[in-house]
Amino acid sequence: MTKIFENIDMCDPKTHDDPWEMLEYFRENEPLYWDPHNEVWYVFRYDDIVAISRDSETFTSTEGNRPNLPPDPSMIHKDGEEHRKQRGIVAQGFSPKYIREQEPRIREWTIEFIESKLPSGRMEIVSDLAARLPMRIIGTMLGVPVEKHDLVLSWIDRFLQGGMGPQYVTEEINEAYGEFCMHHEEMLELAAQNPDGDDLLNRWLRAEFEGEKLDEDQLLFEHTLLNVGGAETTRSAIAGGLEELARHPDQYELLYQNLDNREFVENACEEIIRWVTPFHNMFRTATRDVEMHGKVIKEGQMVGLQYPAANRDPRHFKDPYKFDITRKFDTKHISFGYGAHFCLGASLARMELRVALEEFLSRVKKLELDPNDPPRWVSSSFVRGPAYLPVIVEAR
Ligand code: HEM
Repeated sequence: MTKIFENIDMCDPKTHDDPWEMLEYFRENEPLYWDPHNEVWYVFRYDDIVAISRDSETFTSTEGNRPNLPPDPSMIHKDGEEHRKQRGIVAQGFSPKYIREQEPRIREWTIEFIESKLPSGRMEIVSDLAARLPMRIIGTMLGVPVEKHDLVLSWIDRFLQGGMGPQYVTEEINEAYGEFCMHHEEMLELAAQNPDGDDLLNRWLRAEFEGEKLDEDQLLFEHTLLNVGGAETTRSAIAGGLEELARHPDQYELLYQNLDNREFVENACEEIIRWVTPFHNMFRTATRDVEMHGKVIKEGQMVGLQYPAANRDPRHFKDPYKFDITRKFDTKHISFGYGAHFCLGASLARMELRVALEEFLSRVKKLELDPNDPPRWVSSSFVRGPAYLPVIVEAR
């Protein structure tokens, strides 16, 4: 008999420690769920998330995209023309050409991080590679001195806990944001000393799109958004991907045999990003009453888009609970969102993951989870991915 899930607090991190049975229950039996603890709705089906993400007139981002938390002035909380223009300015500093040019140094850092640990025969994938690499990349792109990367990462780690809802916003998180704001001021001073600099802050200070520039507040919050997007999510994809490959030595070997086949490796990256789904959800707010699955979402109420449930929706993914790097995708996964807010960093994230896999697999013959030291995932209702992943490695 199916277990019934009711009265679930979706913002509680413990709800998501082992979420699959619960998510499947809602996706199949109660696809629109009212969470009485947080007074927000949730949807679970792929098609519902797509429909809501497409229709920003009915489901706006301007009231915020975290549960019961107010919006900030970054692009992620804008709609329509305002969103298009602000994203246009930020994207200028973030062009495909600029992203492609980052690949050689991303590869160098990846090799450095792997080779410094490989001789010991042990690695803790999260701190040795998966968290370190994306922070080095986004930190360098933003012009942050390397000695400061760990500190910036520690602030961002804390902000993300606050993204679970207002009840999780602690004094410590507010202090971390205060420190980030001071860091932003220092970075602006550095940028002013080098106004032709190639870092993202300088690019944004110069960038104009259809005659508009970022104002001071927008710049601060875009800086925050890019740091969070850049440093946190790709970490989950790299660590979660290596964990799953360690659990499937046959697929590890198959990927190694096909490392020169770009299409094969890129497909494996997509399966990893589907499998891990680094964000649990983003939110929208209804601008009018909407009927869905026999219930009414009232004007002003928030709806959470549960991406992991949609990425395992059997209406779109065959054998959705199977990890398969050769998966034929009839439908794209939804880990990067959908529509106007589709992740601006997706091509960078995909490249980071691909380079990490190429360099890791070409150097590491054997990858095994440590039987005496089990991995741990982040306990969160916002981000998903390993927090601690000790492995045994053997060089080729
Ligand atoms: C695997 C890694 C990543 C995942 C899973 C991911 C996921 C997402 C998702 C789901 C959204 C949509 C938000 C919404 O609809 O409300 C988003 C937006 C965004 N992401 Fe990512 N992201 C990743 C990596 C990155 C990276 C590396 C960056 C930048 C360095 C980045 C920057 C952004 C920005 C700026 C937006 C806002 C776009 C907009 O509002 O138009 N992300 N991301």
